[in-house]
Amino acid sequence: MTSGGDAPGMNAAIRAVVRTSIQNEMSVIGFKRGYNGVLMRSKDEHDDFEILTSRSVSDKIHRGGTFLRTARCLDFLDIEYQKKAVENLRMLGVEGLVCIGGDGTYKGAAALNALGVPTIGVPGTIDNDLAYTDYTIGFDTALNTACECINRVRETSDSHERASLITVMGRNCGDIALHTAFACGAEMVMVPEIPWSIEEIAERVKWGVLRGKTSMIIVFAEGAMQSQTSDVAKICSENEKLSHISTEHLTSSQIAEIIEVLSGHETRATVLGYIQRGGSPSGRDRILASRLGARAVELLRDDQGGLAVGERGNRIIEVPLSEVQKGEHAADTEIAELINVMAVMTKYK
Ligand code: F6P
Repeated sequence: MTSGGDAPGMNAAIRAVVRTSIQNEMSVIGFKRGYNGVLMRSKDEHDDFEILTSRSVSDKIHRGGTFLRTARCLDFLDIEYQKKAVENLRMLGVEGLVCIGGDGTYKGAAALNALGVPTIGVPGTIDNDLAYTDYTIGFDTALNTACECINRVRETSDSHERASLITVMGRNCGDIALHTAFACGAEMVMVPEIPWSIEEIAERVKWGVLRGKTSMIIVFAEGAMQSQTSDVAKICSENEKLSHISTEHLTSSQIAEIIEVLSGHETRATVLGYIQRGGSPSGRDRILASRLGARAVELLRDDQGGLAVGERGNRIIEVPLSEVQKGEHAADTEIAELINVMAVMTKYK
């Protein structure tokens, strides 16, 4: 089952689960649309799950998205729905469930395991926000896609001598932003985990102009407003050019506008959006997905459940699902510092 936001490499993980199961003489059912499929909520009774054979996963390893479809199922937080799912799984003779997804998916997996259905979590999310694993499936592809997009933005930004604020996904995690900014040679990055001030960003844009930079790339994590420290409401109310902005839920364009007015340098916003989530998985994501999918099946075969598989230091690991949810993901401050070093955005030459 795949659940939550799709991630490139989910198909490769399903393929690994199916083929490893067949190798171990186990049969596989693929549930559709995450926990909705397990709850059998589809209008068409034949559309909640399908028997997966080796052929079902042919020609899938290189495809983005998830052919089993996916969904977020908030109802699954409710014990009554969890019990219903257990009933359905027992009726179908399901002896274990591989749950491919992120944090929300793992909560459901932990609940099912507690109710007696062995589950294994496989980390599939572009956000890389699961602390127990170095990487989640889909992160590398999203990073590469974001880099490619930023290369393009830099060319037009450079031609017009503008600064560009580029918003990337990641929810409350700054990993996509940090890694993308580092890989693209961005001048600045704002992430939810590290405090930053919009006034300081504008100052740095000014320094960049003084240093003769023709383009400046500012990578903005979608959740980064939560760590902003300046009084934006005051800045906008005191500045005639910004007084029209209502600061409660600032859009990327409004953040760029504030930077432009404070720095005096033209600044435009680009929101990358779902582009980052689609596309053929990178080689790294295919390999990670295949290794993790295979390990998940081996664990179920060996009568283990309530675990999440992951990668640490290039080794496949497993940790209790209960531990995964405790893990707070910390930003890589070393990368954040190196971005500053490489960008040479200091005041003096
Ligand atoms: O968790 C993956 C993710 O793409 C986040 O980066 C983003 O905040 C969210 O999903 C968007 O979710 P939805 O598909 O519901 O718009």
